[in-house]
Amino acid sequence: MILSASQVDHKADPDRREGVIGNRPNPQAFLDQSPKLRLDVLDRLHDTSVLSATLFDRDLLVELAKLAAYLQLGKFPAAHALEDKILAAAFFEPSTRTRLSFESAMLRVGGKTISVADAKTTGVAKGESLRDIGQMFNSYADVVVVRHTEQSAVQELTEYLRIPLLNGGNGSDEHPTQALADWYALLKWRPEIAFGTIPDEFRLNIGIIGTPGNMRTVKSFLTLALLFPQNINHITIFSEMADPLGDEIRELTNASPIGIDFSQNLKQSLEYLDVIYMNAIAFLGDGYRFFGEEFMLDRDSKLKPDTVILHPLARGGELCTSLDETQHNLYFNQADGAVWVRQALLLSIFGRIRDVVPTTYLA
Ligand code: CP
Repeated sequence: MILSASQVDHKADPDRREGVIGNRPNPQAFLDQSPKLRLDVLDRLHDTSVLSATLFDRDLLVELAKLAAYLQLGKFPAAHALEDKILAAAFFEPSTRTRLSFESAMLRVGGKTISVADAKTTGVAKGESLRDIGQMFNSYADVVVVRHTEQSAVQELTEYLRIPLLNGGNGSDEHPTQALADWYALLKWRPEIAFGTIPDEFRLNIGIIGTPGNMRTVKSFLTLALLFPQNINHITIFSEMADPLGDEIRELTNASPIGIDFSQNLKQSLEYLDVIYMNAIAFLGDGYRFFGEEFMLDRDSKLKPDTVILHPLARGGELCTSLDETQHNLYFNQADGAVWVRQALLLSIFGRIRDVVPTTYLA
């Protein structure tokens, strides 16, 4: 029998809240390690723009993930917390997840949204300047999420804005809130990354398939990975590019104690990788390019039994759908968690945590 949507009882199936398939780590297990929220840390986000993953240190990332976990578990109602606020989602480049999950996050905490889904429907099509667009955001919204093909656009916009700007992906540069979603998934999967020191022999080996120098999600993910030197043993970057890092991220990796190397032989490395982060799409010049066709994963890939795969999506042929039903699939949980971590971010930016979190949850 095929049920129509109206016949499906969504409330009776709590799994629908977290994606039905793949690895779904329990947010409670993460919170059990450190239940009290540190407002002194989260308050640093009040009225702040998020342009780069370098804004986050380990404490801020972990406290934000804890707030996200409480929201995901429904521990305190936040459905009206931002009902006097408007989020503008201004996307001058296509998106599925980032725009919709920001809008979903804002609506779930009671806020309102206005949206640009296609630059062609704005004054940009008539040559309108970022300066003038910025002035409109000031009048029409209280926070703006911007995605743009030009790396310089988000920085330039902040010069004209009096409201916080959240970088939803700027050219080949950064995608900091995607990295928050990536690490929210990983911290739920292995809470000891955040709170403990993993014994040397079990410290994580991470494989990154992609080029941090020109893939924004990869760059922001790697930036946050460097916050956990006590629990990450090694990072291997698989890329067909001669210089996958680029100058900016190389400065960060050079300053980190985490060992980083480069390889073109993914198959040979699979036996020791605990986490694989993959992406194949980069925005270069004036269009998209697909990289790494030789770095493909499917159900027959010789992964360790507990290896997890992250992918910011959209995917191409590099990530076979045959992996979707396996426990290697952390990528759907990663996409799902974006809604909760973006709610946590919005509550922090608007300084509304005290309005929704009972004092018993505060450090
Ligand atoms: N992860 C991500 O940035 O996806 P979208 O391009 O769909 O927003």
